[in-house]
Amino acid sequence: MDTKLLFGKAESLATPVLAIFAVDRQTDKNAEPQPTLLTASTEIQTAARTLLASGEFKAALGEVALLHTPAGLKAERLLLVGLGKAKDLSPGALRKGAGTAVRAALARAVRSLAVALPETNPAPQAPSVELLPALTTRAIVEGAELADLDWDTYRSDRKDRAVDSITLIASEAARKTQIETQLGFDEGRIVAAAQNFARSLVNEPGNVLTPTELGVRTTAMCDEAGLKCAVYSSEKIQELKMGALWAVAKGSAEPPALIVMTYQPETAPAADAPVLGLVGKGITFDTGGISIKPADGMEKMKYDMAGAAAMIGAMHAIARLKPTVKVISIICSAENMPDGRSYKPGDVITAMSGKTIEVVNTDAEGRLVLADGLHYAKTLGCTRLIDAATLTGAVSIALGALNYGVFSNDDATCEQFMRGLAVSGEKAWRLPCTDDYRDHIKSEIADIMNTGKNRYGGAISGAMFLKEFAGETPWVHLDIAGTAWNEEKKPWIAYGPSGVAVRSIIEWVRSYSA
Ligand code: BES
Ligand code: MN
Ligand code: ZN
Repeated sequence: MDTKLLFGKAESLATPVLAIFAVDRQTDKNAEPQPTLLTASTEIQTAARTLLASGEFKAALGEVALLHTPAGLKAERLLLVGLGKAKDLSPGALRKGAGTAVRAALARAVRSLAVALPETNPAPQAPSVELLPALTTRAIVEGAELADLDWDTYRSDRKDRAVDSITLIASEAARKTQIETQLGFDEGRIVAAAQNFARSLVNEPGNVLTPTELGVRTTAMCDEAGLKCAVYSSEKIQELKMGALWAVAKGSAEPPALIVMTYQPETAPAADAPVLGLVGKGITFDTGGISIKPADGMEKMKYDMAGAAAMIGAMHAIARLKPTVKVISIICSAENMPDGRSYKPGDVITAMSGKTIEVVNTDAEGRLVLADGLHYAKTLGCTRLIDAATLTGAVSIALGALNYGVFSNDDATCEQFMRGLAVSGEKAWRLPCTDDYRDHIKSEIADIMNTGKNRYGGAISGAMFLKEFAGETPWVHLDIAGTAWNEEKKPWIAYGPSGVAVRSIIEWVRSYSA
């Protein structure tokens, strides 16, 4: 898709569709909505007047109304796009609004559209909203690019629907913030491309995206982006004494992949500067192994590499955004299969760190592969760690499909991550990971066991297990099992892989940049 940024009068732009945002500034919940366009253009206000007066369009988030041959405008169609309540207007609402505009155009087979950037002080009667130009523009670009994908790649009747071009049009008055606006625009494109790349990996079925194939695609991305990348397999994993990753991997005919990506800033940081370690769970298919999963819904387990995809996507953006901090990403990829060579419940394995683990359930494989990934990151010099994983079904019981779970052994590092949510627009909730939960993973047989003692607080048990391997190093764990796959399509986003966590991981990395 070709995305452009223009400054000028929206009413004078010749385009198949001109999208204008609207908010509802009604504050009394018993009264009629008061849809208000976020434009200062009297021509556009006039063209939409009858429609707005009709009460048909309420400016709810995700709502659209379409006017053909609007009088006084050069556009062939005027698309009003609701952003919801004026008081709730946020970059998040704009991201969804821009997505809604793109998907409304797609549904009408329109391949080219223009989206007007909202004006902060539109008409005298309009709400005065504090939207920073960089963040606003970035959110709109991201929303538009994320909406422009459907996951029907493998269908013979696929629509191959995509918008060819999107023009963002900012008012002449916005020229005074041209630098910020352009910056937000450029960043938005980089971040959205990273997230879409992650989604494209998650979308692939297990028979296509094996650990080896994940290595191939990651290498290709790194070559293109200028990152160092090494892909290791069974031999190196055993040589490194990664007993936990190897235990999971050895039951599959597909060899595992240990992928190491390195981003080195142009000017070498100070010797005591932090080195960030991004560790991703890359189970390309999770059958549960010998503790096999029920057949119902097992097909979903192709997305058990969404944590890995999030890190690979984030590295793509990092290579282009060039923060001044060194970043190493480690992907632990394997298939979890039942087989004569599989690891079994009751097995005791020794992780790379030397800790012994009693395997109680072979379906708790994610924490095993990450245990060695986290430890390996430390041996490579990482001083701050973050991992992303579709780790537990329990996190969706706790938080549903809206928020992902955040766990940490260090308040300051965790808060630094949480602050980025305001920019990324993602929703996440911190859950406890304090030492009083340590007995969840206590084993009679080995140092620890790989499940909780019962199913209560299952997401915390998973986090407590990982914490053993983060040790003293400040670490944040993201459990994205409930959020990595959109089960419902929305006006602004397709059904399928969400690309969750990519944007927040990027913000976290940037927060360490000078
Ligand atoms: N990959 C699953 C978790 C998962 C569940 C991801 C649903 C996405 C959607 C993970 O490997 C797993 O099987 N976890 C077990 C842990 C249990 C055996 C302690 C679970 O959540 O049941
Ligand atoms: Mn599992
Ligand atoms: Zn899994």
